[in-house]
Amino acid sequence: MSSAPANLIDGRAIAAQIQRELAARVAALKQRGVVPGLAFIRVGEDAASKVYVGRKEKACAELGMVSETHVLPEKTSELELLALIGKLNSTAHIHGILVQAPLPKPIRESVVFSTVLPAKDVDGFHPVNVGKLMLGDDSGFKPCTPAGVVELLLRSGVKTEGAEVVVLGRGNIVGKPMAAMLCQKGRAANSTVTLCHSATRDIKAHCRRADIIVAAMGVAEFVKADMVKPGAVVMDVGVNRVPDATAKTGTKLVGDVAFAEVQPIAGKITPNPGGVGPMTIAMLLQNTVRAAEAFLKT
Ligand code: GUN
Repeated sequence: MSSAPANLIDGRAIAAQIQRELAARVAALKQRGVVPGLAFIRVGEDAASKVYVGRKEKACAELGMVSETHVLPEKTSELELLALIGKLNSTAHIHGILVQAPLPKPIRESVVFSTVLPAKDVDGFHPVNVGKLMLGDDSGFKPCTPAGVVELLLRSGVKTEGAEVVVLGRGNIVGKPMAAMLCQKGRAANSTVTLCHSATRDIKAHCRRADIIVAAMGVAEFVKADMVKPGAVVMDVGVNRVPDATAKTGTKLVGDVAFAEVQPIAGKITPNPGGVGPMTIAMLLQNTVRAAEAFLKT
């Protein structure tokens, strides 16, 4: 039997550790009569969104939190969705609200995310929370996936202070907040960050000088061995469905990193699955527990 390579960052184990830490906070809240409550909203039948929300519901239940899922039909209007968010904003036992992206076309995500009360915005997508992140104000909620990457780096003993970090991808959910987090002053930050995207001239040259690469551009197995400096830390955020004739479904999921060729030269690397994914959920639970604690103080 071959054992796992020594340089793997075990996201499942680290997420489980965080969930054990959160369990104590949930128990303390319950003693004071508050059960953290999280509402999920899913619009339409996006297959990946169903899987993600299902996993998040399960994690809530395992931690003894309350969750409720509102599934709206594909044809739901923006106004109907905003009305539901408005209702949940004023529902006392709901401390966090998560509207799963992507949303069907005519609905504007920016309008939807701006409607969630900042105090219940456990996704960290409201402009107030985005602004706080940019300002280095820790009182806001940070987006779960990049927060999970930071936590993985921290708990794996990766030194970010002064490190050259290359973030691949400028999306609002991962790339942009990731860059903002790692360039802040402070714990698990203080990095020199380069944000690369589709118009970047020579991505390979940027990657090759990186001490840490965070791949979040959504291109299957984009990061190849010749783009990685030996010993660099490689964090793979990508989830891409690609054809696979050997699979029963005819497809398989791969990350943004060509894992088999990059793993042997990386200093540390996240497996995919089992790396960043479980941390997104752990950070969502953490944000919701924080929201419930803050609710108790109001
Ligand atoms: N879609 C992909 N990632 C996320 C996330 O972190 N939150 C929400 N709401 N939707 C997503």
